Amino acid sequence: MLLAQISDLHIQREGAHSALIQAETHLLRCIETLNRLRPRPDLLAITGDLTESGRKEEYLILKPMLQKLKMPFLLIPGNHDSRENLRETFREHAYLQGDAPFIQYAIDTWPLRIVALDTTVPMRSHGELCSARLAWLARTLAQQPERPTVVLMHHPPFATGIRLMDELGLLEGREAFADIIAPYGNIERILCGHLHRTIVCRVGNTVASTCPGTAHQIALDLGAPDDLYFNFEPPGYQLHSQGAHGLVTHHAVIGDFPGPYAF
Ligand SMILES: [Fe+2]
Repeated sequence: MLLAQISDLHIQREGAHSALIQAETHLLRCIETLNRLRPRPDLLAITGDLTESGRKEEYLILKPMLQKLKMPFLLIPGNHDSRENLRETFREHAYLQGDAPFIQYAIDTWPLRIVALDTTVPMRSHGELCSARLAWLARTLAQQPERPTVVLMHHPPFATGIRLMDELGLLEGREAFADIIAPYGNIERILCGHLHRTIVCRVGNTVASTCPGTAHQIALDLGAPDDLYFNFEPPGYQLHSQGAHGLVTHHAVIGDFPGPYAF
């Protein structure tokens, strides 16, 4: 199975957040890139911050763009999203629906089991995993302890060293989350967003990683910056390829570059 991942689309009215960020243009370029891939990914996971402000009008811009994808896709909310508007706009995505306070789901129809967690706190930037969400995770993982599984969550369950983002990180439930997943040898990856760049860390007995944004990236600064900065390093996506030796992750950039040239 070939699982693609993109994250942090931040769709907004063009230029509303910053005149520099052309989120729609960037997402279209990303979709074109994904649609050109051969082999085509079986599934695309989009790990949150689908919109900039969670407004209905932003989801209505996003939806027809995602309908250009030539592969099925799964959505999870990020801290910039609204659970209500996400559910309402993507009504045909049955896994998003229901009256549960959180958007958490497990999907068993692909060779990789997908378990999605909701780390968001309405109107706040940081993430939390409360006891209710963690209890759901424990029950869900116990249902399929053998099948290769990936966990999707917006806020990564580790400190990244980018201090100002860590202050907006998963501030509650991180240790309990690691304790719950640690016994499971079948969790191939924990796939996250939020950081707008690629970062990898061991959590429990598995590998957790963050995915670049499709538009702007968070500046890499492991010092003590006075503020958070974004830049336009090439946006990217990830391909998680399931084979005989488990899951292999490729980080790729979006853009037009010289080549390919024969050796
Ligand atoms: Fe984001």
